[in-house]
Amino acid sequence: YGDQSQKIDYVFKIVLIGDSAVGKSQILSRFARNEFSLDSKATIGVEFQTRTLQIQNKSVKAQIWDTAGQERYRAVTSAYYRGAVGAMLVYDITKRQTFDHIPRWLEELRSHADKNIVIILIGNKSDLENQRAVPTEDAKEFAQKEGLFFLETSALEATNIETAFSTILTEIF
Ligand code: GTP
Ligand code: MG
Repeated sequence: YGDQSQKIDYVFKIVLIGDSAVGKSQILSRFARNEFSLDSKATIGVEFQTRTLQIQNKSVKAQIWDTAGQERYRAVTSAYYRGAVGAMLVYDITKRQTFDHIPRWLEELRSHADKNIVIILIGNKSDLENQRAVPTEDAKEFAQKEGLFFLETSALEATNIETAFSTILTEIF
């Protein structure tokens, strides 16, 4: 998971947003440490983790920020978005409400972040197909309309986690 001694060519800040319990912290933990926990605690305030990747022969350090989906635990919004060049907008494919709230998150993102920020819509928990409440087509259509990348992921099974981050990082790069 990255040789720490290498020289860094770029540092990219990426923010995770979306309702509580959609799996933001576990997506981050899977990406940064290849770890997953089923009894993950709700995030309080802001945390971040980094991972360095090679993109087109350059070492790119992804600095990924994670905050609480719950309003009462959220940190100051403008500071959270400051300097971010990428964003992951996460919902849970088994909870329709978390998808219905996406336009609100997108609005917050667009009013605080840089206008050129690269955004990917993520439908997480794709391993729970039998509990699916959000059809893939609905999300795909929304993403297309809003000009967002889109992927379904599973932090539990490590499905599409790498692809999600590399989609964002490659586009920023
Ligand atoms: P807040 O910090 O409150 O905003 O929540 P969060 O979005 O960070 O959610 P978190 O990562 O803590 O995950 C919430 C719950 O969903 C935990 O019990 C996780 O284990 C579970 N979870 C996360 N990702 C997946 C996944 O891909 N599949 C399944 N089945 N469960 C997941
Ligand atoms: Mg969290």
